[in-house]
Amino acid sequence: MLQQNDWVYTETLKEHFMNPKNILQGEDTDAFDGVGMEGNLSCGDQMMVVIKVDRDKEIITDCQWKTYGCASAIASTSVLSEMVKGMTLDQAFDVSPKDVTKELGGLPENKIHCSVLGDKALRAAINNYFERNGMADRMRKEQA
Ligand code: FES
Ligand code: FES
Repeated sequence: MLQQNDWVYTETLKEHFMNPKNILQGEDTDAFDGVGMEGNLSCGDQMMVVIKVDRDKEIITDCQWKTYGCASAIASTSVLSEMVKGMTLDQAFDVSPKDVTKELGGLPENKIHCSVLGDKALRAAINNYFERNGMADRMRKEQA
């Protein structure tokens, strides 16, 4: 049987799971400049990430999210949402699950797929911003 000290999660992960930052309240996304949805093929969990953008500087001024995913997805996206505030859209697009995992202090191997949910939804939100604002040529593809 698992003992209390056998939790596989880092303190940082537990903190972000218990007190997630930047949770989107309600379903209304009208106040945001970009909306991204993503589903996780391996577990069926869903994620929504929304962003506000300083149009002149192309900087993310706010990033909120909601998910019905697991603890790892919640903690990863909480960390991600803090990391990308103040970044340019292109910098935020380049944030990788590895960067997020590092910030969390690591993730169990079988939970890595959960950290890929938030950043994918974020990239979808960034592309959505470009699309809405007549900058479809700026939309970027997911890295393989
Ligand atoms: Fe069980 Fe995501 S499928 S926690
Ligand atoms: Fe589904 Fe983690 S198990 S996001």
